Amino acid sequence: MGFNYMTAQEAAEMIKNGDTIGLSGFTAPGTPKAISEEIAAKAVREHEAGRPFKINLFTGASTSDHVDGALSRANAINMRAPYQNVPDLRKRINSHDCHYFDRHLSEMAQEVRYGFYGKIDYAIIEAADVTPSGEIILGTGVGNVPTYAHLADKIFIELNEVLPKSLLGMHDIVMLQDPPRRREIPIYAANDRIGSPVLKVDPTKIVGIVRTKSYDGVKPFTAPDEISKQIGSNVVRFLISEYQSGRLPKEFLPLQSGVGNVANAVLYDLGESKELPNFMMYTEVIQDAVLELMKKGKCTFASTCSMTFSDQTEETLFSDLKYFHDKILMRPAEISNNPEVIRRIGVIAMNTALEADIFGGVNSTHVLGTKMMNGIGGSGDFTRNAFLSIFSCPSITKGGMISNIVPMVAHPDHSEHSVDIIVTDQGIADLRHKDPVERAYEIINNCAHPMYRELLLDYLKLGKGGQTPHVLNAAFAFHNAFNETGDMRNADYAKYC
Ligand code: COA
Repeated sequence: MGFNYMTAQEAAEMIKNGDTIGLSGFTAPGTPKAISEEIAAKAVREHEAGRPFKINLFTGASTSDHVDGALSRANAINMRAPYQNVPDLRKRINSHDCHYFDRHLSEMAQEVRYGFYGKIDYAIIEAADVTPSGEIILGTGVGNVPTYAHLADKIFIELNEVLPKSLLGMHDIVMLQDPPRRREIPIYAANDRIGSPVLKVDPTKIVGIVRTKSYDGVKPFTAPDEISKQIGSNVVRFLISEYQSGRLPKEFLPLQSGVGNVANAVLYDLGESKELPNFMMYTEVIQDAVLELMKKGKCTFASTCSMTFSDQTEETLFSDLKYFHDKILMRPAEISNNPEVIRRIGVIAMNTALEADIFGGVNSTHVLGTKMMNGIGGSGDFTRNAFLSIFSCPSITKGGMISNIVPMVAHPDHSEHSVDIIVTDQGIADLRHKDPVERAYEIINNCAHPMYRELLLDYLKLGKGGQTPHVLNAAFAFHNAFNETGDMRNADYAKYC
């Protein structure tokens, strides 16, 4: 059967106000880039003509400026889930122009199948190739596309010329059965393959193919600054001491690493460490540093949902794909982030916090408790189920006007029941087997910046009892001081007690 080749604009013309669209991909990689820009242009035209035009948009995770940026600037998103990180969309979310449902990434696909999100009108899929029978070689990110493609009435494919067809074999595509028929996921090691190398779709649902030629536009990481380096070296120091104490198995455990410069710095440091053995990763994204670790032989395998490489690294990868072909496997988010697998294979989770509190609570999502930053992403999937869960952040931000260690987090994403270790540039707090007050001393003395330690100890002294001696009136004195004076160092407990 012959496919209908069309332009992105022709594809966008078919999308109607109120349609729900599911995209392939996870971060920019694997995410379609052309049709979304044209949907945004259509929205602008419609709005100028005085007609409403907004879509509901479901993805694997964050996307790129081609999607969330363009559509937000056009105010064309009604409902968005499960994760984002584009400034223009963040503004729309925080001003209530867009309904954002921030969800654990492992749960999104199954909940769409359960019917919690209504019906999917279109799936848009970036592909390296598609056969007449509907077998698709995906690009460099998977996300929730098996579910979106399965449920969508119609499918568009963006066939990206930049993607080599030799990506075939680097995907492990599977869609879980829903309860009560779901069985165990037979992944017993990070490199076990359980699914198909291609995504199979009903070819009669493919209503259009748009040819594109575009890299993902992921920016290369800047060299880690001194603070990131210090955090990275503290995380590695902790892992070495765990390993040498015998609490980690001899062959080590698979690592999950979050996104950003600190995560990259940790991975570079791991590459330098002679004390730790070679390791595998079971994670949702791999960044540039992982490719370096693979070249060195330090990281022997990575199970991931996406290869979030800078364009330069992506070009290197494509030119040497043979070497990496059997070392990387891209899976759907419900597998890469699956709690069952994470718990079974004993993943060591390393994520980043916006702020942590003295009792071990972590805020990953809300700046000063109210403004959505990005979303919980996969941090909850991994943190709650990990063999060891590590959170890192700088001890201070904005030149010291913000302490990242506070009396009580202004928005709780991860509770002390799930967080094992907190690391800052100042040091390491090991929260395991400690009661709340012991944890507070551990965090204040090891992780808080010296300029905030007395203030945090004073808060602890204010407590009048209870196992977790919070003083509820004063618990947000740091945040209130920042809001009122621009500096948390002005926290005044007496004002609130
Ligand atoms: N209070 C207020 N603002 C804060 C803050 C705090 N406690 N901590 C950081 N900020 C500000 C920074 O100053 C910076 O502001 P700027 O953009 O004006 O410079 C901004 O927030 C981002 O901080 P930064 O330190 O650069 O963050 P990051 O890039 O290391 O990302 C998270 C940190 C928490 C936002 C990010 O890791 C995230 O979204 N995590 C949740 C999802 C996740 O964990 N995914 C991976 C799971 S596999």
